[in-house]
Amino acid sequence: MKLRPDLGLAFDDVLLVPRRSRIVSRYAVNTRTNFSRRIELVMPVVSSNMDTVTEAPMAIAMARAGGLGVIHRFMTLEKQAAEVTRVKRAESFMVDNPYSLPADTTVAAARIEMEKRGIGGLMVLGDSGELIGLVSTRDVLFEPDGQRPLREVMTPRDKLVTVGAGASLADARALLHSRRLEKLPVVDNDGRLLGLITAQDIIKMEHSPTATKDERGRLRVAAAVGVRPSDIDRAQACVSAGADALVVDIAHGHSDHAIEMVRTLKQRFPAVDVVGGNVATGDGVRDMVEAGADAVKVGVGSGSICITRLVTGFGVPQLTAIADCAEAGQALKVPVIADGGIRTAGDLTKALAAGASSAMVGSLLAGTDESPGAPVVRDGRRFKVVRGMASLTANIDRQEVELGREVDPEDWDKVVPEGVEAMVPIRGPAADILHQLVGGLRSGLSYAGAGTLAELWANAEFIRITSAGKKESGAHDVQVL
Ligand code: XMP
Repeated sequence: MKLRPDLGLAFDDVLLVPRRSRIVSRYAVNTRTNFSRRIELVMPVVSSNMDTVTEAPMAIAMARAGGLGVIHRFMTLEKQAAEVTRVKRAESFMVDNPYSLPADTTVAAARIEMEKRGIGGLMVLGDSGELIGLVSTRDVLFEPDGQRPLREVMTPRDKLVTVGAGASLADARALLHSRRLEKLPVVDNDGRLLGLITAQDIIKMEHSPTATKDERGRLRVAAAVGVRPSDIDRAQACVSAGADALVVDIAHGHSDHAIEMVRTLKQRFPAVDVVGGNVATGDGVRDMVEAGADAVKVGVGSGSICITRLVTGFGVPQLTAIADCAEAGQALKVPVIADGGIRTAGDLTKALAAGASSAMVGSLLAGTDESPGAPVVRDGRRFKVVRGMASLTANIDRQEVELGREVDPEDWDKVVPEGVEAMVPIRGPAADILHQLVGGLRSGLSYAGAGTLAELWANAEFIRITSAGKKESGAHDVQVL
């Protein structure tokens, strides 16, 4: 038995000591950071890979705000890849493989397709993928004969303005303006459809210059994977759909199978960044980095819906875990992500001051418009459900996805949950929460006399105030169901 001499500290155990500051306004600070070796963020906040937090709508909101969403893995790999695709298609200077239909499709079928996909236009293709026309909502919406084929109602190829693959954003912009167009199909030399440029996408792109984007102007997104051999297929599907990073999602990441999974993913998918985790010690970070991790996620039992520490007795209070892990990460030049326990902008500032490069947020984002799940009403107030991914119902749902059938209720007792189901109040758009978090962080930077996160790391001086680690270690600040 070994007893560490130092006290493990939680966010509530410390405060940051104010310093003389040269910062005149909180808008004068820069919150730019790295999520992983190659992925930069303007806002150091990431949404959790939980099934009550991050699917495509949340990931889109996060990337637009300058952060990043990690799509959870508690669904079939096909569905997860489809969520990644939705994010990658949400904004782009050019959409790859735009939705298209054959020319003999009926107007009625095209209407259904447009509604299902939430789009206002479809490309019409010939037998060998060549563009032969375009239909927009107004071509089909009030067409009395739903059985007419698209070739009779579409704008035909000879009336369409198109560009080649090499067209720049400036070329596209100029053409859209001079010809008063909404859509500009991109075709190769043989007339085959390559992509689509839309006025809407260019407007969106120009309205959010700080959004987290890839080199083609698409929003960035990460996808979570487990550590089973079948998770390689999941990773492959997500990478093929355009995922920018893979996040190994396992409660005890400092384990041989998680480390080997990081190594395998790095070898198989060198073009995407791989995040290892979760760990709570410098040793955990070093082992993950040795296996090739491009970032390491830190937090064991720190989340609001976690009861791992109660069930297993294991964990490290989050501020100490971040400080130990960040020291190791900074020595190896690999960012660490502080995961769990962020309730306020003050917690975010403390997590970053302790050395994290970004923070992952779960239940704080769970009640927003973009989180999955419908609101529930209790005593006249509206809530959304948030649940730990090791909670009883999440365990059962996961087994059902894997088995493809219902789990016998008799078997529910076999589950040993390490998370709870809870309710959080409805909170409106995620952007509002993020605005508050980042506003507080900016203020925090000015109290630290820091213009950047690197200066915050250098200037931060913590003072211990109380021992509140116990509070952080159980479910907190939510009403447990
Ligand atoms: P917050 O405090 O932001 O924490 O809601 C979110 C993080 O909690 C982790 N998580 C769990 N940890 N049992 C755990 O011990 C669980 O069932 C569970 N579900 C989520 C996860 O790291 C998440 O990002």
